[in-house]
Amino acid sequence: MGKRENDSKRGRNGSEAQLKLAVLISGSGTNLQALIDACAEPDYPARISLVISNKDDAAGLARAEQADIRTQVIRHTDFASRSAFDQALSEALAAADIDLICLAGFMRVLGAPFVDHWQDRLINIHPALLPAFKGLHTHKRALEAGVRIAGCTVHYVRADVDVGPIIAQAAVSVLPEDTEASLAKRVLKQEHRLYPMAVALIAQGQVAVVDGRVRIAGAESGATEAALINPLPSPTK
Ligand code: GRF
Repeated sequence: MGKRENDSKRGRNGSEAQLKLAVLISGSGTNLQALIDACAEPDYPARISLVISNKDDAAGLARAEQADIRTQVIRHTDFASRSAFDQALSEALAAADIDLICLAGFMRVLGAPFVDHWQDRLINIHPALLPAFKGLHTHKRALEAGVRIAGCTVHYVRADVDVGPIIAQAAVSVLPEDTEASLAKRVLKQEHRLYPMAVALIAQGQVAVVDGRVRIAGAESGATEAALINPLPSPTK
């Protein structure tokens, strides 16, 4: 959501209305849980109005129900085409008057008409430092490539998969003993910090997409001098 649209969300008395989120899931929903927990904080500038899963058995549905959030299952298998499924999703989101859609482990590729319709109101979290390691099995591929630093990215969604203006990233060191599972666990922990933070920046109207890149107003940059270096140089003998 661009800053201008978001400004129109201010209430008549000048107070910021809470951004209405939909979270789309297919699985365990730990990122959904991080958003639920953030929304439970009194000052958080967004709330979740709807959780949609394309699978009946997504464990994340129970997390939403536990938090009294409306859930809807829209099974992709019930539709003859991708576009018919996308259309049903779009209708559900429009009916709920959603401001921002957060993909959180949603394992369906959304078609260009859907993505274009929701442009800059549709974000995703990806378990890699984009534009590296788009697609699946990011941690396995990061280990195979021998990278020293891995991480996660929150970005606006565009028609190509895992492409789109980058909003925020978090980095972790890759350790010599890392397995796919241990690296995934360390990155996921950062995802749970990063996603609510990125949503808050959007909800506060601090995020604008300018010439295909994100500009953030009034946010500090992370460690400017103290870089994450891996490995750390050993002390000189
Ligand atoms: C996360 O690693 C996310 O980055 C990726 O899918 C995974 C979803 O995990 N897009 P969860 O369902 O939020 O636990």
